[in-house]
Amino acid sequence: MIRLSLCVFFASAQLLVFAQLRPAHLLCENLSNPLCIDAAAPRFTWQLTGQTARDVKQTAYELRVATDKSFREVTWSPGKIASDSSVQVAYRGPALRSGVAYYWQVRVWDNKGHASKWSELQTWRMGLLHPEDWTASWIEPGYDEDPVMRPSPLFRKAFNLHKTVKTAIAYITSHGMYEAYLNGKRIGDACLAPGWTSYNKRLQYQAYDVTSLLRNGDNALGAMIGSGWYRSHLAWENQKDVYGKTCGLLLQMVVTYDDGSTETIQTDNTWKSATGEVTYSEIYNGEIIDARKDAGPWTTAGFDDHAWSGVRLPGTPRDNLVATWNEPVRKHEVFHPQRIFRTPKGELVVDFGQNLVGWAHLTVNGKAGDSIKLFHAEVLDKEGNFYTTNLRVAKQEDIYVLKGGQTETFEPHFTWQGFRYVRVEGFPGDLKPENLEATALYSDMPKTGSFTCSNALINQLQHNIEWGQRGNFLDVPTDCPQRDERLGWTGDAQVFSRTASFIRGVDNFFAKWLRDVAADQFPSGAVPHVIPNVLGKNDGGSAGWSDVATIVPWNMYLAYGDRRILEDQYESMKAWVGFMEQHSRDYLWNTGGHFGDWLSYEGANTDQYLIAQCFFAHSTQLVIDAAEVLGRQDDVNKYTALLKNVKDAFLREYATPDGRLISNTQTAYVLALQFDMLPENVRMADVGRLVDNIKDYKDHLTTGFLGTPYLCHVLSRFGRSDVAYTLLFQDTYPSWLFPVHMGATTIWERWDGQKPDSTFEDAGMNSFNHYAYGAIGDWMYRVSAGIDTYDDAPGYKKIRIMPHLTDKLDFVQADLDTYYGTVASHWKRSGDAINLDVTIPANTSADIYVPAADATAIAESGTALNLHPEIKILRKEGNYMVLSVGSGEYHFVCKE
Ligand code: BGC
Repeated sequence: MIRLSLCVFFASAQLLVFAQLRPAHLLCENLSNPLCIDAAAPRFTWQLTGQTARDVKQTAYELRVATDKSFREVTWSPGKIASDSSVQVAYRGPALRSGVAYYWQVRVWDNKGHASKWSELQTWRMGLLHPEDWTASWIEPGYDEDPVMRPSPLFRKAFNLHKTVKTAIAYITSHGMYEAYLNGKRIGDACLAPGWTSYNKRLQYQAYDVTSLLRNGDNALGAMIGSGWYRSHLAWENQKDVYGKTCGLLLQMVVTYDDGSTETIQTDNTWKSATGEVTYSEIYNGEIIDARKDAGPWTTAGFDDHAWSGVRLPGTPRDNLVATWNEPVRKHEVFHPQRIFRTPKGELVVDFGQNLVGWAHLTVNGKAGDSIKLFHAEVLDKEGNFYTTNLRVAKQEDIYVLKGGQTETFEPHFTWQGFRYVRVEGFPGDLKPENLEATALYSDMPKTGSFTCSNALINQLQHNIEWGQRGNFLDVPTDCPQRDERLGWTGDAQVFSRTASFIRGVDNFFAKWLRDVAADQFPSGAVPHVIPNVLGKNDGGSAGWSDVATIVPWNMYLAYGDRRILEDQYESMKAWVGFMEQHSRDYLWNTGGHFGDWLSYEGANTDQYLIAQCFFAHSTQLVIDAAEVLGRQDDVNKYTALLKNVKDAFLREYATPDGRLISNTQTAYVLALQFDMLPENVRMADVGRLVDNIKDYKDHLTTGFLGTPYLCHVLSRFGRSDVAYTLLFQDTYPSWLFPVHMGATTIWERWDGQKPDSTFEDAGMNSFNHYAYGAIGDWMYRVSAGIDTYDDAPGYKKIRIMPHLTDKLDFVQADLDTYYGTVASHWKRSGDAINLDVTIPANTSADIYVPAADATAIAESGTALNLHPEIKILRKEGNYMVLSVGSGEYHFVCKE
């Protein structure tokens, strides 16, 4: 009896605790406890948790920042502020100091009369803010390098610490990619660090807390450097050494002792250099590791380095160093062989079942000098043979030479491959499943979205979109991960950016890359085709590609409410519109070379200048929108006038008075409708033309890179979601499901990468992992499931739930983790009723479009709507009843 009442007591005490208002999911600069921030005013984000009641809103918050955990040394404590801001609230205290760790907490009040306790203690550390904070010198190998193989240099330094260490932070970057070690242990778990930026202008360094790796007495630091993006072959013209010829290291470790004194161990002329087992490493070609050349325990203190060379100090300036903004590339999923088999040609091949980006990990026993070659391919050809012609000159080949006498394991360090199949040559004995596994590598962006529905093919399409993002968000958004490109193609990135923001948290990923967009933008305002710009030439300015400068900042603003991206990119946005204005006559921009509606269906060619004019208008509109957010009224006026002229020029040149366009293509009508190029009175006629065109192609799309992202959106906006679903469900070429039908596990570059008869498209350009056509993912979340935000309350501060139902599906379920919390929209048909389950996070509000004839046809959690005073009935709109709600979980049952 006593036990029972104790249980009841504890259970209810737990409930009480659980029901307490609590700020959680605390972020600084969108990251959890980051170690190097160089934003002058870091921003704090928190979610209101612990309240299950409906319509919870924050009414006030209080933030405090200190340099100690008990808040005795308070840096900033502005007191209680009446506000509902809980996302990206900027620090406004005194200037923050280089290398200092700050602690912060927040507490909140809500509209139900609750006050929270202080949140859990959070921390962030400022980076090295000024060039003079860097006392380390760049070091380069002291030996003469083999100019052909260019083995990966090793750097090391032994040192002694004679006091007890309180904290130690290592700041590291490199020319090339690095792996750093302290006392034999890997520092951090980032791969391909320091990532890729426009190195000459902006080189990111990383900070690591290495306190636990240090010990009293003898210690050693080591780093191995691979050629990486710095000097590997890049692009297709056999160019290399884009940023420099020689690999280098910059490392500064600041040790703080228990007694408060500090010491800095850093790269300087006391370091040693040598080469080791990585005898060759190139991004496209792969890596060679000769274990016989293993340098031994070279990252430990006792290692004898007397035979090693010294180092050179090239005197490289340190004024291009910036803190790392984005999540590092890390190892993720591990795949095991699904099948080990001989192809008709007799080659030994392993199938991992998923086209992925990363590398294979080999475990092997053999003799010294045995050489095992791993070749990588995305597909098998029609006959079932290993197919690599589409890699062009990229070899994607890793070679391992054994030391012998023990079980050895290998994986590359400074390269990656795009593959599903691995061909193995030279393996001693029988290859078993346990000998090979595949590891996926990608930027460690948090997973935020999930979309599932009642159709397995559509779910596979969603899977393929997600894997397109995983594989190609490798520190920069790349076109593809396998052939001799793997570049930050701007057009591809802009078309996919909104979709990407549903699947994963890409706020910091794009914020970082957009800085390179601005840094590499030509003085004319044109944006190079790839960012970082390794094509070098003065070409850029292609419509739909250069518009990355306006489209991605705006998409990030919508997805995350990130106003600072708009502030930071504003000049770059204007510069791009300035370029188009400069290059137009009478506001008609019909000059220059353009990629056009890249890879559209053969014959469905859209006039490239018609497309250019549409994007001219769209980018101008986005500058107006950004100017409004930033309060730049002069610019609002100026660009509004420009926009009118641009649209007038479009009508003069490309449309008849009744709206017929000079190109009778889906893309022409889609772009004209999406960007409001046409007067209202002809729009429905053009929707008709678009639908007719789709019918002419027997319910197939014909759009390329630029038309595809907007195709279904335009149809839905003008009331033709039925046609959008017809296109989505089409499974013959060209369509989204055709590749799924052919067994694709990623999105293909071309609608028919592999043709219905299983032969391939032209190998000159045929990637099987190109995310651009995956842009349909945005429509699946925003329209099919119906989760969207509002331009004037972005980042899901105000949410719109407006699912578009179809008879073709029994249910759709989408969830999205926003900065406020999870938004969910799940709809399901049961008999002639529809269930709509919606989750709206605290401190937001939503308009929910319930598919119902009228309010009496809707029940919520089993009771009629009029018994729910917290749900306001706004209006009837089309086939929906529009309801206004605050946070909470809602379970509607309704009849259409
Ligand atoms: C890339 C693209 C890119 C295109 C430019 C290709 O080689 O892989 O995806 O956008 O060139 O047209």
